[in-house]
Amino acid sequence: MALLEVKNVEVSYGPVNVAKGISFNIEEGSIVTILGANGAGKTTILRTISGLIEPEKGKVLFEGKEIQGLEPEVIVKMGISHVPEGREVFPDLTVHKNLMMGAFIRKDSQGVADDLKRVYNYFPVLQERKKQLSYTLSGGEQQMLVIGRAFMSRPKLLLLDEPSLGLAPFLVKNIFDIIKRINEQEKTTILLVEQNARMALAVAQHGYILEVGRMVMDDTTERLRENEDVKEFYLGIREEGIRGTRRWKKKKQWR
Ligand SMILES: Nc1ncnc2c1ncn2[C@@H]1O[C@H](COP(=O)(O)OP(=O)(O)OP(=O)(O)O)[C@@H](O)[C@H]1O
Ligand SMILES: [Mg+2]
Repeated sequence: MALLEVKNVEVSYGPVNVAKGISFNIEEGSIVTILGANGAGKTTILRTISGLIEPEKGKVLFEGKEIQGLEPEVIVKMGISHVPEGREVFPDLTVHKNLMMGAFIRKDSQGVADDLKRVYNYFPVLQERKKQLSYTLSGGEQQMLVIGRAFMSRPKLLLLDEPSLGLAPFLVKNIFDIIKRINEQEKTTILLVEQNARMALAVAQHGYILEVGRMVMDDTTERLRENEDVKEFYLGIREEGIRGTRRWKKKKQWR
């Protein structure tokens, strides 16, 4: 049994159908990525899993239990934590308090203290700035903080919505390294939604490609990286395309 099973999920905003029967699975212990262009429906899927949206049709099963339509708080307690798009820290709380907010559902204070150490170990910059108010953090530091805060609930499944958005290249690499370490060392299963296809396909084991509300590809990331369509549309590699462009440019110059 997969940890998460999404079965034929349909979501509409008013008359517009944005998830048109989406199905996919996430095996326990894995990192799975969903790639797709702007507006494909990636965030909609994450919001459906975490209970912020109730699907019109279909099921979401977590550890075999139906969770679609349950309250977000209930879903968090079951072990799913969602890092939304756009770094929503509590701006007027310190870094430390933000992290502790992630653990508010937990009763095991020793476990919380241990996990706080783990977060500071993954993100040393947060430890340096633990007394600082969160609105004063840089964008990259805020992104680390929201990932750390989600980890503090000790989720079985961590949903990450574009963690690399707007980060400098060295920091993108750093964030993906930490995502991989959290998966390997803490055995946290991760669903990663990304536009940085290169990084996402490097860190995940399995990938799905979403195009306007439908899953159009489903394969190991190893095979997806070799797929011609993925190379062309998501990795920006296409031999003839590049040559074609050059020819076209030359032609223009001749005119
Ligand atoms: N609350 C809403 N009301 C109406 N339409 C919405 C709402 N939220 C999303 N949509 C529409 O649903 C579609 C899918 O949106 P979604 O945010 O899931 O895309 P996405 O794949 O996450 O895109 P991006 O990569 O830009 O974040 C888009 O066309 C969007 O305009
Ligand atoms: Mg989105």
